[in-house]
Amino acid sequence: MKKIVIAIDGHSSGGKSTMARELAKDIAYIYIDTGAMYRAVTLYCLQQGLFEGNTLHEERLRQEMDNLRISFQLNLQTGRPDTYLNGKMVEKEIRSMEVSNKVSPVSALGFVRKAMVAQQQAMGREKGIVMDGRDIGTVVFPQAELKIFVTASPEIRAQRRLKELMARGEQATYEEVFQNVVTRDHLDSTREESPLRQAANAIVLDNSAMSVGEQREWLLEQYRKAVAT
Ligand code: DC
Repeated sequence: MKKIVIAIDGHSSGGKSTMARELAKDIAYIYIDTGAMYRAVTLYCLQQGLFEGNTLHEERLRQEMDNLRISFQLNLQTGRPDTYLNGKMVEKEIRSMEVSNKVSPVSALGFVRKAMVAQQQAMGREKGIVMDGRDIGTVVFPQAELKIFVTASPEIRAQRRLKELMARGEQATYEEVFQNVVTRDHLDSTREESPLRQAANAIVLDNSAMSVGEQREWLLEQYRKAVAT
């Protein structure tokens, strides 16, 4: 069967990662969560004291970009890829509210995006990949054979993110998470560098009222059609 590139883009907390990861497992493709990469850069900034309040020392980050190594390793227990920053597993840290609140300004920087996009393109060179993010179908793989744009209401997305945080034992309120979702939607869609937008040939999926099982079936159907053409 021919191997393709599957690009899944959309708003934050829209369930993209779960869908993309499950699809990759079903069809034995590699799954790459590009949001995790921008989160890992943000964690690095926090750990290295590159933030002063909400102000980021851009120049210092630019100088230190070459010190940053981000990789993924399949966790055999969870069946999911874990994110590594300079050899250390940081899966839990990158999902914290602290990182969520700081990731937008970091991911808006041109030199950060350039470095991440180059790594993402290298990861997809052999195809057989499901990649989720904001600019996969528009910038990273404009030639992707299958592009999905996922959307759901901000209320539903905030509820989902809150459930995830609670499950990990993090403290957060619905209002706080809702505000973070709305703010990131705005920042992700209005930034100058690769703003979140739907690729012209993307298939839109509003999953507000869909179960994980229904989304899985729908995606498999899109995959079958894409490889058949
Ligand atoms: O998907 P996520 O919420 O984990 O992504 C974290 C942040 O990274 C999000 O606010 C936008 C940014 N991002 C991006 O700019 N480009 C991508 N390809 C993926 C994520």
